[in-house]
Amino acid sequence: MWVLAIVNEKGGSAKTTTAVNLAAALAELERRVLVVDLDAQANASLWLGVNDEGQALLEVLLGQRAIDDAIRPAPAIAGVDVLPASRRLGNLAGQVGWAEFPQGLLRERLTPLGERYDYVLLDGPRAVDLLSTNALVAANGALVPLIPETLAYLGLVAMDAAIQSVRPVLNPTLEGPRVLRSRWEDRTLDARAVLAQTEAQFGPAIMRTVVRGDIAVRHAARAGRPALTGARSKAADDFRALAVEVEEWAGNPQGRSDA
Ligand SMILES: Nc1ncnc2c1ncn2[C@@H]1O[C@H](COP(=O)(O)OP(=O)(O)O)[C@@H](O)[C@H]1O
Ligand SMILES: [Mg+2]
Repeated sequence: MWVLAIVNEKGGSAKTTTAVNLAAALAELERRVLVVDLDAQANASLWLGVNDEGQALLEVLLGQRAIDDAIRPAPAIAGVDVLPASRRLGNLAGQVGWAEFPQGLLRERLTPLGERYDYVLLDGPRAVDLLSTNALVAANGALVPLIPETLAYLGLVAMDAAIQSVRPVLNPTLEGPRVLRSRWEDRTLDARAVLAQTEAQFGPAIMRTVVRGDIAVRHAARAGRPALTGARSKAADDFRALAVEVEEWAGNPQGRSDA
């Protein structure tokens, strides 16, 4: 089981799109994938066709419900399961005052899953908070999607700072951040400026895969379809390439048999 935290404190930075479509692309490679929805707005759960789960993740984190009891299969994508979000997640800090190691709750709750999944993708919240810290403590790697807008670089810098402070104390083997260019348009001035800054500071940590801006992503979202699975489009091809690159990162060579 390899856990990837997809994090960026900014809303609209393509976290959920990445989580859902990377999950679908890994499932096409016959990997077993769990998406954990850590955003109280529950976009990933909804996109994956799972809703009305009330307090699922919150109850799991608080130890009130077994994780097995909360996980649901994504109806439209074979091989992908979802741990749905809770609308009251934002309240987590207020509810775990008694916990000894509140930053480690998620890691602890994922442990019983053993090797049932090849990948667990954590769709991060739009904040640097107790939940995003839980994601970074539970993860093997951190991926920060970066859209080509001038202010987006600041979200990357903030996540990097969060990772640098979590790593030494709470998760020494955490890898990253790696940077995923998302909704990317090479030719714009903003994209060039953001790329220049990012290369200067994070050069080798930039993923070689670029997820291009693609109207198919918006169409799929509007149609309530969970992902770009099965069809060809620029972004669908990019997410397939991303799945291959993530497998390399996880040290999980393509073609491995899970039997
Ligand atoms: N590759 C892409 N091409 C076009 N639109 C995209 C792409 N990736 C994301 N988007 C759009 O950008 C918006 C924000 O993406 P989302 O994944 O919800 O961000 P976050 O989860 O970080 O808040 C959504 O409307 C989504 O459809
Ligand atoms: Mg989101």
